[in-house]
Amino acid sequence: MHGPSLNLLGTREPAVYGTKTLVQIDAMIVAYAGERGVEVATYQSNHEGSLIDGIHAAVEQGFAAIVLNPGAYTHTSMALADAIRAVSIPVVEVHLSNLFARGPERSKSVTATAARGLISGFGHESYLLGIDAALRLTQTPRKRPAQKPSRRGDAKKRSSALARRPRS
Ligand code: DQA
Repeated sequence: MHGPSLNLLGTREPAVYGTKTLVQIDAMIVAYAGERGVEVATYQSNHEGSLIDGIHAAVEQGFAAIVLNPGAYTHTSMALADAIRAVSIPVVEVHLSNLFARGPERSKSVTATAARGLISGFGHESYLLGIDAALRLTQTPRKRPAQKPSRRGDAKKRSSALARRPRS
């Protein structure tokens, strides 16, 4: 999900945001996710309320996670932060540029206080890293129940049991 003015990527401050267009970046995201057996939908809006609606809709539509670049709303939007907090699925915040190398105004993220984490500064690769993070957050295997501490010798018994297993 992309926030304001990210529709202009490619021509918008290319020295800061790169020369890839949003269409190209979306295609990379879809291909990258597809290679990992994951279906993604991409969405861009210049409007705070539409992004909030999009976050709510993602849950209703059964998406497992959101990778979000809130654009300049990052630095101001308590409403977006509240929307992120309001949903049960993980939201991974991503930025093309390194916010922390761009002066005090951009070094603060209101939305990241609600997101699961933040990836910033890797150009369009930030989105792909965001997909990786979302995958890890949603596909973590369940923890096995804790085993009782074994007595000395148990490990030996187990390994001999394994050794006795017929070869297939
Ligand atoms: C941005 C960083 C924001 O500060 C800026 O307002 C953007 C793009 C990024 O991806 O680097 O619109 O989110």
